[in-house]
Amino acid sequence: MDFSLSSEQLEFRKIVADLVEKEIKPYAAEMDREGGIRPELIKKLGDTGLLNLIVPEESGGPGLDGMTIGIIYEELGKGCAGVATSVAANSLATYPVLLRGTEEQKKYHFNLLNEGKFAAFALTEPNAGSDAGSVATGAVKDGSHYILNGTKTFITNGGIAEVYLVFANTRKSAGIRGLTAFIVPKGTPGFSFGKKEDKMGIRASTTCELILDNVRLPESSRLGREGEGFRIAMNTLDAARPFVGAVSVGLAQSALDMAVKYSKERRQFGQPIASFQLVQAMLADMSMRVEAARLLVFKACWLRDQGVEFSREAAIAKCYASDTAMEVTTNALQIMGGYGYSKEYPAEKYMRDAKIMQIYEGTNQIQRLVIANKLIY
Ligand code: CAA
Repeated sequence: MDFSLSSEQLEFRKIVADLVEKEIKPYAAEMDREGGIRPELIKKLGDTGLLNLIVPEESGGPGLDGMTIGIIYEELGKGCAGVATSVAANSLATYPVLLRGTEEQKKYHFNLLNEGKFAAFALTEPNAGSDAGSVATGAVKDGSHYILNGTKTFITNGGIAEVYLVFANTRKSAGIRGLTAFIVPKGTPGFSFGKKEDKMGIRASTTCELILDNVRLPESSRLGREGEGFRIAMNTLDAARPFVGAVSVGLAQSALDMAVKYSKERRQFGQPIASFQLVQAMLADMSMRVEAARLLVFKACWLRDQGVEFSREAAIAKCYASDTAMEVTTNALQIMGGYGYSKEYPAEKYMRDAKIMQIYEGTNQIQRLVIANKLIY
């Protein structure tokens, strides 16, 4: 077993760490306040090659392995979990095309990402969250076309993405087995954006509703076969969950670093609070959790790269790392007391950002179900 990183991974980590220091951290509070990513940053993310990480080399991307992408997302998570979410949503929306796309679909989708554009993964609906198989958006065949009608909700990159991976039902009576994936370009007639969410955290990422009103798509927009959508969605979520873990680890690491620094500077009862054993115990527990979460994320990313079944490990990594982010950011704020609760420091933002990690890409209750199912059945 080798825990060292390759020279390529170290180089990527340094490039992203520099971007985080110069272009993300100084603007994180502003993006949190105003909502959305600064347009200048979108351009820099594209120029740095962070929006097409999983696009294969033969299609013009870097074609990075899961381990390297995990390392990159951890660095982004250190800077701003909202920005990291928008970037990671690109991989989420691209994996289905990598899995099942035709040459034509790959060319179209990958080229957009290579140009620095965003993509979005649209599965969730007002009444289909954890129960992803109950998608009500319908796709009815009309000659050589499909007509899509329905509403998608909580879609990361909704509005700013150029292309949307939309899951619709082509055979409602078949339930899960009727789910089918479609590639929907922005600007398709009948396809519009509804309510933009005013969120508690990850406010740099845009989240909005998608409205499909008689959207007419050619057959060539269908990804894979009819009825293959649920499996595509599940395979994609398996592949993406370790990355939610990676962002969570970065977020938790930043909160821990801030708490250590603060506890060495803050003096009470005539000494730095870091000299008090109750504070030391909190910091030690935080450090243990972050380290364990990082190892679980690395293991899930490594398994992803081996091409073996890894649903359980992906769920463990996502669940443990996001629970860690919630616990560590909460305790970092606690160590900082009133200053942590004030917007003067990023502690309260870290805590707000951490909460969604336990919710999106499958709630941690769903992750526990996935883990338990793999143990029992
Ligand atoms: N890989 C491959 N196949 C899978 C699978 C997996 N991980 N999980 C399930 N399947 C298959 C099963 O084998 C089964 O196939 P058969 O019928 O042929 O046997 C079929 O799918 C149905 O499986 P289940 O009976 O287990 O399905 P279910 O309806 O009970 O749901 C679930 C399972 C795990 C709860 C699933 O619905 C789920 O993951 N829900 C959470 C949805 C989710 O993560 N949403 C996130 C949205 S995206 C997002 O948040 C992005 C963002 O904005 C950042």
